[in-house]
Amino acid sequence: MTLLTRLQTALLALTAASAIAEPIVAIAKNKITYRGTTSGSIEHFQNIKYAHDTSGHRRFAPPQPYVPPEGSEMDASAPGPACPQNRAGVPPFFADTPDISEDCLSLRISRPAGTTADDKLPVVVHLHGGGVVKGSAYDPHYNPENLLTLATSLKKPVIYVALNYRILIFGFARLPILKDQKSMNVGMRDQLAGFQWVKDNIAAFGGDPDKITSFGLSAGGTFTSLLLTSYGGERGVPFTQAWCMSGPPGTGLNMTSDVTELHTREVAKTLGCASTDDSELLQCLRGVPLEKLTEKAAEYASANHPPLGLFTFIPSVDDDLIPDRQTTLYKSGKFVKGIPLVYGWAQDDGALSTAPAPTYQTEDDMKATIQGVAHALTDEDYKKLFSLYPEADFAEEVSDYEARKAESDPTVGVHYFRVARILRDLQFTCSSIDFGSDMLKESKRLDLEYPGVHLYSLNQTMLAPMFAGAGMPYIGATHGSDLNYLFNLFPEGNITDEDQKLSRAFIGSFINFAYTGKPSPAEPEQQVEETLGRWPEAFPVHGPESVSLLVIGGPWGTGNTRLTAHKEQRDGNLQQMPIDGGNIQVGEMKVRSCKERKRQLKREKLFERCRYINSLSEKLGN
Ligand SMILES: *[C@@H]1O[C@H](CO)[C@@H](O)[C@H](O)[C@H]1NC(C)=O
Ligand SMILES: *[C@@H]1O[C@H](CO)[C@@H](O)[C@H](O)[C@H]1NC(C)=O
Ligand SMILES: *[C@@H]1O[C@H](CO)[C@@H](O)[C@H](O)[C@H]1NC(C)=O
Repeated sequence: MTLLTRLQTALLALTAASAIAEPIVAIAKNKITYRGTTSGSIEHFQNIKYAHDTSGHRRFAPPQPYVPPEGSEMDASAPGPACPQNRAGVPPFFADTPDISEDCLSLRISRPAGTTADDKLPVVVHLHGGGVVKGSAYDPHYNPENLLTLATSLKKPVIYVALNYRILIFGFARLPILKDQKSMNVGMRDQLAGFQWVKDNIAAFGGDPDKITSFGLSAGGTFTSLLLTSYGGERGVPFTQAWCMSGPPGTGLNMTSDVTELHTREVAKTLGCASTDDSELLQCLRGVPLEKLTEKAAEYASANHPPLGLFTFIPSVDDDLIPDRQTTLYKSGKFVKGIPLVYGWAQDDGALSTAPAPTYQTEDDMKATIQGVAHALTDEDYKKLFSLYPEADFAEEVSDYEARKAESDPTVGVHYFRVARILRDLQFTCSSIDFGSDMLKESKRLDLEYPGVHLYSLNQTMLAPMFAGAGMPYIGATHGSDLNYLFNLFPEGNITDEDQKLSRAFIGSFINFAYTGKPSPAEPEQQVEETLGRWPEAFPVHGPESVSLLVIGGPWGTGNTRLTAHKEQRDGNLQQMPIDGGNIQVGEMKVRSCKERKRQLKREKLFERCRYINSLSEKLGN
């Protein structure tokens, strides 16, 4: 071997060694190190335990923060187990979770390679959804590599964290004795413990503990919302801003109900744990093997809320973490103020809560579905509700569908479109607007610099072809569509160029929010093209009742619309229209799209309908 080749060989070996060098982060105060992995330009640290194993006497008990012995060298190179749940996946939203354990209170951290402890990057923390029956921080649907790589290419690198928390009976068992022991809603107590770990330790990973965004979809968004009302807002929250997708505080879950206690007792009965003495019952339940309890609880939940068992074991008032009904709390100002918010929903967010569309032949069919969400509505309430969503208002939806449907596609009547819209507004839209406007009002009162509340409606989806293929071509931009854009990931299919473009803009706004609390840059002309564009605050502090809403994607494109409650201002002002200095045709197209977006949104009658729906909050259990 010549000297040169020897040198080359040595150099190659060096490069190879550095390519596989594992990133190590040390927490100075207790000399604990975490050894992660590198994948491309992203470093991952997984299975970082933030709380002790929850088996045995810790089952149904609040999380006990976990700190390894001083000087420990922790292996953070592989995913941790999911919290107990059915192992089967739910495509296209959840992958299989073969590995479950009660030693599941862990989190993962991902960051751009080369991040150092001095970088103080904004931190985004993901709470998964899954209706309190499914989900894990390690689900491949939430692989953060594309998100982080795009963020870095936009010169706004961020640190990604995702938390596991207990779900099903493990996270939300309810018994008077658990209430006495402040051991209810332990799944939410897990979330708080996880966030606290992030706040205390993220600086060592290069994160800024004063810039932590909580984000999540569906249950993940609703939990974020509920954390804002936890302890009536008196204890603050260990995060500083929130991005909630289809996850307002009020989704029709009756949190004043003790029905979860019934569920807890029923599951105990199937396991031979029934007892008139609750401490015996609890002891017995704590002794049931993990597999057996998971199986029985999941089976019970599925039978209770077929087919998936969503929202059976739910958060409920415990006179501690959850002192009251969420709407009562926020209507009386009992929430953490000054948290910049983004609230969004999907244009067809109610579609997955309905039965197959052709089954809706009458208003009674609509009622049967709505009753699944809203048990306490009277016949009078239904009459009023249906009158606010009259058949005539949905004739356009029917004719649009007929125009685009293939011959073999099912015929769908007007009642389907009515019920899907009612469910959307009842579960996602109206509570987002209601809480958002309270947050804005109360926060601006305290701080005029408060960055505000921003609203969006997503009207594009990567999932439509899948639903069409499954015989449901009538499903539009459905619940859950946001995450494909946010993670720039679609494991079940291919991302089209158009979706790719929207995803990049979505991520651009998301990371701008992580940096500034606002989803659009302060200097529109500078970086606006790398985001969803101009996106004003949703609510004016004073002035007319109005709301600004960003429509994201869909046939009329992304753009902001201001809606006002007063008829005379219905046409808004022309400044809302984008002025395109270049190509006149493009400019005209934009104006047309802008007008059409506005016309479409006006047809949704958000003020009138949400005023009524929000007045029903007690009957909805919100
Ligand atoms: C919620 O549950 C409580 C207690 O079980 C019950 O009194 C109330 O009527 C329920 N509300 C709704 C909207 O179902
Ligand atoms: C995605 O694209 C690849 C390559 O073009 C193709 O082989 C594959 O079938 C596509 N997958 C789906 C789900 O459409
Ligand atoms: C949303 O998209 C549907 C079709 O995909 C369209 O008919 C509707 O007008 C759009 N709505 C808005 C507000 O852009």
